[in-house]
Amino acid sequence: MTDASPSSADTTPTGQNKPRQDGKLRAIAIDGPVASGKGTIGRRLAQQLGFSYLDTGSLYRGLGAIALEQGLDLDDEDALTDLARTTSPEAFQRDDLRKEAVGEAASIVAAMAKVRGALADLQRRFAEQPPQGKGGVVLDGRDIGTVILPDAALKLFVTANEEARAKRRFLELQKRGDSATYARVLSDLQARDERDRSRTTAPLKPADDAILLDTSEMDAEQAFERAFDLASQTFGA
Ligand code: CDP
Repeated sequence: MTDASPSSADTTPTGQNKPRQDGKLRAIAIDGPVASGKGTIGRRLAQQLGFSYLDTGSLYRGLGAIALEQGLDLDDEDALTDLARTTSPEAFQRDDLRKEAVGEAASIVAAMAKVRGALADLQRRFAEQPPQGKGGVVLDGRDIGTVILPDAALKLFVTANEEARAKRRFLELQKRGDSATYARVLSDLQARDERDRSRTTAPLKPADDAILLDTSEMDAEQAFERAFDLASQTFGA
């Protein structure tokens, strides 16, 4: 399965993700700090379950990248909110999203309440009307279980210690040919986590009913297996 981009919500047939009898949405909300492995788990879960997947970080990254490109002031909430409202979902998907500078810009713009509001509808619409007529969705980000989909049937909070996460992100960047040093990756990660946790709007934190998945001592396969067990119990896959 190719990843469903937000744009496919608008361009391909959609299904109705009706709440189940218990009021829960057929959705998996995955939140967690930088480089905790949310995306890898989320993509694979969606593939296995036949759900649509949305990496919500790509929206904030896309917005950050466009703002940098246009030389916008990253403190200008109104201008950034306008940009978020007027940019087509396709335009958020760019080749430079994984750059460290883009991640940094993403977390700056993501701290703004009006910017988050402008991107929230898109995420909820994706969950309520999964693209390609899929029967459920997986969204990963920072506030999916707490703010965007409080009724998700399964909420995971994926984490790992700082060293494990910095090492993973460093290797990922190296593979992409990025020249970042480990020390720089670690300090960027710490700064971004701190900003994401301490902001007043939709801070990074586990929902009360989230299941904690600490992957410090797990490889990607083990982390996925654990998440898939939990999903199977929830959705009877
Ligand atoms: O992949 P990584 O963990 O580095 O980050 P990401 O999920 O791509 O998100 C990039 C940045 O966007 C985060 O540091 C957050 O500041 C912001 N973000 C957010 O605030 N809310 C979300 N639902 C997703 C991302």
